[in-house]
Amino acid sequence: MASSIKAWVGLQSHAEEMQAIHLKNLFDSNEDRFGTFSFSFSHYLLDLSKQRITDETLSKLLLLADQQGLEAWISKLFNGEKVNYSEQRAALHTALRLPEDAPLRVEGQDVAHDVQASLLKMHGLVEQIQQAQWRGFDGSPIRSVVNIGVGGSNLGPLMACAALEQYAGADIRHLDVHFVSSMDGSELEKLLPSLDPSTTLFIVASKSFATVDTLANANTARQWLLTASHQSIDLINQHHFIAVTARPDQALTWGVPEKNQLLLWDWVGGRYSLWSVVGLPIALKIGMQNFREMLAGAHAMDEHFRCTPFEKNLPVLLALISVWNINFLNIHAHAILPYDGRLAQLPAYLEQLEMESNGKSINRQGDRIEYRTCPVLWGQVGSSAQHAFYQLLHQGTEPVMCDFIASATRYESEAPQLKQQHQLSLANCLAQSRLLAVGDSLSDSKEQGSNYKHYDGNQPSTTIMLDTLTPETLGGLIAMYEHKVFVQSVIWDINPFDQWGVEQGKKAASSLLTALKNGGNDDLDSSTNGLLRYVKDWQQRTES
Ligand code: F6P
Repeated sequence: MASSIKAWVGLQSHAEEMQAIHLKNLFDSNEDRFGTFSFSFSHYLLDLSKQRITDETLSKLLLLADQQGLEAWISKLFNGEKVNYSEQRAALHTALRLPEDAPLRVEGQDVAHDVQASLLKMHGLVEQIQQAQWRGFDGSPIRSVVNIGVGGSNLGPLMACAALEQYAGADIRHLDVHFVSSMDGSELEKLLPSLDPSTTLFIVASKSFATVDTLANANTARQWLLTASHQSIDLINQHHFIAVTARPDQALTWGVPEKNQLLLWDWVGGRYSLWSVVGLPIALKIGMQNFREMLAGAHAMDEHFRCTPFEKNLPVLLALISVWNINFLNIHAHAILPYDGRLAQLPAYLEQLEMESNGKSINRQGDRIEYRTCPVLWGQVGSSAQHAFYQLLHQGTEPVMCDFIASATRYESEAPQLKQQHQLSLANCLAQSRLLAVGDSLSDSKEQGSNYKHYDGNQPSTTIMLDTLTPETLGGLIAMYEHKVFVQSVIWDINPFDQWGVEQGKKAASSLLTALKNGGNDDLDSSTNGLLRYVKDWQQRTES
């Protein structure tokens, strides 16, 4: 049990002392708190000085990491041991971003070679499409690509395409890349009328090739093509569908021929898969070279994580601070606040990465744990959130830890007005984290008199600063969060690579489909039956 180890107990008593100390006092007592608690590596700066910590806190947390065997766990992860014990699988997303010549064999399998071979096939498809050699049913070159996928088969590519749009530059043929994920068809309904069927290519991205959301959207898309083209289903499958999957048999049964399939492996978790062929939309949007730079940025962060002493190791520090807040300061909400519109999709991406990985309450021995694990995580572009939920951060009753994420430079060769907007955004980012930390002490004395104008402060935050946002630094940033999640899982003694909690819901939905038709079912609770009857009544009324 993590909570019975010595370092945990030591942190508990240290936290009792720290609960009484305001961040403002911590700043007052150390003029160079930033120097003491900011850490940098390559393009990244991690400022932990606005966290409610002292030197003692950090050394106790580092002791906790040691006592939980973090070093050994990192080796297991990178060496391809079955760290996902409930599914008896490795979690080798780090292998996906190894440099071309790096060797990796796991249980006799040349993993490094397999990864490079799959990247090569992906590269071939990207070139075919980019060079207008991939043609639609009437011989027109493909202009629009629609990625159909959900969860990890959607959020990573969606986030990266939005973040790196500016890299869809001059030397890359422009392709419109769209993303469709919602089960109810809302996105397709809106998107399809704007597309030309003969120039549209669909990527069906599903590791399992069994996710109903994705298959329902793929079926709707294929029917749209069949109706518009009057061609055979085989021809449509060949010219308009690529499958990205770990289940080639299932994709073939659905109709995607082998030459249109890009494969991943069981050891790539869905939420860790944007580095694999799941990243195809990213490569189509920004080009293969830029995609490889994203992989290289992630690899550099992997090496930093693997080789750097924990006291200077960015993902380790990020994780330990979060554990401190959750388990010792009792802060169970975490806001992700990028001050950069290009990172608008980052909070949703991290919601899956963190909450699907660490939203667990059973430890590796199969026992229920008695301490908190993953907090509720949410977020939005910070400057927009300032006009929405920041009120709660500043004056609510809920303690919240925040990650402020920004890049120091932007718009180097753009209009001065845009550069000024970047400055404005940075100023807001820094002003907000400062106000959250020190509270009222910033206000003038007149305002301090009114209770409703009172700012407690003492909300801890981390600022992650990139020198600038590029494919490489985005790769490093995401890898940093992935490793943070892993470190937390080690401290909490849970498996971050399975997601059994989502399976029951899928099964329950399939039995409710029949109940929906019948307007109820004796085995169900009265709420569900009442809602089913309501739906059936309305559906009958609109049909008649
Ligand atoms: O339902 C959860 C989940 O399994 C995620 O873990 C995964 O990223 C998503 O569904 C999509 O799964 P697939 O790629 O197999 O369609």
